[in-house]
Amino acid sequence: MILVTGGAGFIGANFVLDWLANSDEPVLNLDLLSYAGNLENLASLQGDKRHIFLQGDIGDFDLVSRLLAKHQPRAVINFAAESHVDRSIYGPEEFIQTNIVGTFRMLESVRAYWNNLESNAKPEFRLLHVSTDEVYGSLGKGDTAFSETHRYEPNSPYSASKAASDHLVRAYHHTYGLPVLTTNCSNNYGPFHFPEKLIPLIIVNALADKPLPVYGDGLQIRDWLYVKDHCSAIRCVLAKGRPGETYNIGGWNEKANIEIVHIVCSLLDELRPRADGKPYKDQISYVTDRPGHDRRYAIDAGKIEQELGWKPAETFETGIRKTVTWYLDNQPWVANVLSGAYRDWVARNYESRV
Ligand code: NAD
Ligand code: DAU
Repeated sequence: MILVTGGAGFIGANFVLDWLANSDEPVLNLDLLSYAGNLENLASLQGDKRHIFLQGDIGDFDLVSRLLAKHQPRAVINFAAESHVDRSIYGPEEFIQTNIVGTFRMLESVRAYWNNLESNAKPEFRLLHVSTDEVYGSLGKGDTAFSETHRYEPNSPYSASKAASDHLVRAYHHTYGLPVLTTNCSNNYGPFHFPEKLIPLIIVNALADKPLPVYGDGLQIRDWLYVKDHCSAIRCVLAKGRPGETYNIGGWNEKANIEIVHIVCSLLDELRPRADGKPYKDQISYVTDRPGHDRRYAIDAGKIEQELGWKPAETFETGIRKTVTWYLDNQPWVANVLSGAYRDWVARNYESRV
């Protein structure tokens, strides 16, 4: 058995589905079900005994300790986090609470559990902490891509809280010998992506005849990876990674935001043309920039490729087509997400920008 935290969110849910498609090893899924947690993402696992879901907080030391003692997982994979940069700018508190305090408490539960494992299980155990390229800060145009030794220079409350969690994970290895692995991945996209993030927001707004908000000049660069490739990289690091090491994950796929928006618009023009025959790009609207907006991220994925033999399966062209098609085929999922807390958030975020 493995314990996955945050397995009802975007990447966590994709990971649980991907894991159970590749193995019969059961998954215990602990998720707080914040606004970003959506059990509908896991609807296809209903009745599947290999998946056990439990609503709870990674920061609940007693709960996590009880779960570990009862289910005896051979690994913990930590996806649980507050993940949206804009939300961290408007309200950093929850980011500090979950990403820093929550990770710390979970580390304490895991350390106690690992200390008490039988001598044959102890060296096999792994804690894999899922982190982000944003901890490295922002690159200039000609700068070389982030390697694992790039200095940490987080710029938003979100990335600072993730950086703090990475440091805690590192310290638990260095000080207590806990067998940890950390992955730092670039921007993901794909099915079940919450439509507060750029790609799903553009798809959803385009279809709803709403403006497509592009922050600032739209020339900020992100490095995009199809979510299922992130999942295969995590499985690879869990199986072959060396405890104490960090691995950058990315697909060598840098694109400016405005280019991403144009690609999504063109795909929609092809797959679901507007009723009036006009192009979706007519809906693009430049809005006030994100405060402290990082200009460029780029991941050097050389280490995971050379040391562990991992490579992404999708190109951006194949991945983005799959993604747009998924959203077109899953409009009831979108409609359910659009009700409730998400709607309030979108109103609050954009009223000051337009
Ligand atoms: P998400 O916001 O979609 O999902 C986060 C999940 O964590 C949700 O299901 C939420 O309910 C759960 N959660 C929040 N607080 C919790 C708590 N205290 N206890 C238990 N569960 C809690 O995020 P995501 O995009 O799937 O990201 C998952 C992880 O991957 C995060 O750690 C994020 O920093 C990292 N990451 C994301 C990206 C990306 O592009 N989305 C890229 C690199 C790394
Ligand atoms: O790099 C990895 C990170 O990628 C993860 O750690 C984060 O959890 C994840 O949210 C993502 O962060 P970004 O800030 O890069 O993603 P987001 O989709 O919010 O924005 C992508 C880019 O698009 C960014 O430069 C801001 C811009 N943007 C975003 C939104 C929501 C817009 O121009 N308009 C928008 O409406």
